[in-house]
Amino acid sequence: MDSHSFHKLLLTLFYIGLSFVLILNPALALTNCSFPAIYSFGDSNIDTGAASAAFSRVTPPNGETFFHKPVGRPSDGRLTIDFIAEKLRLPYLSAYLDSLGTKFGRGANFAVSLATIRPSSKSLTGGGPSPFYLDVQVSQFQQFKNRTQGGIFPDFLPNNDHFARALYVFDIGQNDIGLGLFSNQSPEQIKADIPDIISKFSNNVQAVYGLGGRSIWIHNTGPIGCFPYILTSFPVNASQTDPAGCATPYNDLSQFFNQKLKEAVVQLRTQLPLAAITYVDIYAVKYLLISQANKFGFQQPLVACCGFGGKYNFTFSARCGQTTTVNGRPFFVGSCPDPSVRISWDGSHFTEAANKFVVDKIASGNFTDPPIPLQNACNRVSPA
Ligand SMILES: *[C@@H]1O[C@H](CO)[C@@H](O)[C@H](O)[C@H]1NC(C)=O
Ligand SMILES: *[C@@H]1O[C@H](CO)[C@@H](O)[C@H](O)[C@H]1NC(C)=O
Ligand SMILES: *[C@@H]1O[C@H](CO)[C@@H](O)[C@H](O)[C@H]1NC(C)=O
Repeated sequence: MDSHSFHKLLLTLFYIGLSFVLILNPALALTNCSFPAIYSFGDSNIDTGAASAAFSRVTPPNGETFFHKPVGRPSDGRLTIDFIAEKLRLPYLSAYLDSLGTKFGRGANFAVSLATIRPSSKSLTGGGPSPFYLDVQVSQFQQFKNRTQGGIFPDFLPNNDHFARALYVFDIGQNDIGLGLFSNQSPEQIKADIPDIISKFSNNVQAVYGLGGRSIWIHNTGPIGCFPYILTSFPVNASQTDPAGCATPYNDLSQFFNQKLKEAVVQLRTQLPLAAITYVDIYAVKYLLISQANKFGFQQPLVACCGFGGKYNFTFSARCGQTTTVNGRPFFVGSCPDPSVRISWDGSHFTEAANKFVVDKIASGNFTDPPIPLQNACNRVSPA
């Protein structure tokens, strides 16, 4: 071998070695995104005040742990979107629908409690979902973006260059499954609807891309078969209960939804070539926490901290913050003694402590596809 081919061989070996390093440790090649803003779309899991502003005020004891007063969030404290903002060193997001004290310089939150992906003919007052379904939220974002052009309120609205560099968070779908169950649809009927629901979801990701969004962070849906509001409303027998005490048929629905969502994300990556799309396995983190609660310092994973009655401390007619009647006397449905060791806050939402656990896990890259940390989510990396 002459010295020229020897050098070529060395060079080849070097590149093979480098590719291995990059494959095994992609973080080495990733840039820190320094996201200047967050725009988010979803339901109560990440609603920072929209439903409270638009419909009915979120009351005490919500907010007691961190904000020491109700701040529109259905939890004792911060939500996952708040912890995401903290990790990115950004301020907490104001709800777009809130008209007082809002600041949108570093993003805006379009999520509204009880929102679904698909619109429903049932009204909110008739037991249906929020009218602010996903298309409406994305259309509000479009208006928001249009109205920031021209620099009329530079202190309150973002720079134009934020839109391409921002992180776009989606967390929605739990109420599409819930609506099916509460409309007495069978699991099979709900499954049959999921492909259409997911296609409407994809349309909205495409719309956000069309408006300039490039870093897209998509939460899948949690294990609803472990949540007190579902366990109380749709009891199952022992053969349909898993070792954690969760109802298998409803967790199967979440998993079916997530499988279709993941397939849609794979398609979106080919349709939207300039986007970095991260699929975030919220289900796996929440199930890990619920099924091994003691290991992580939590207790009574299936029981609501702020609720009333029954095996799961949950009753629809006496929910967290409401007053019910016990033995002829008014009884305020307040908080349990120590929400910091509890997972379910009010039967459908998580405590601040559980939300923090979730974000610590997902931000690490251990529960995302591709497996890269939150602060690197602008990098386009081949998924694992
Ligand atoms: C990357 O960004 C994160 C959050 O924005 C920050 O905490 C971290 O220090 C940054 N890392 C580097 C190496 O700049
Ligand atoms: C159930 O909710 C009540 C408030 O109505 C609370 O005082 C109690 O501690 C909760 N029970 C459990 C086991 O968390
Ligand atoms: C992520 O996984 C690594 C390797 O298993 C582990 O060392 C690390 O603690 C995990 N991070 C989190 C936040 O769970």
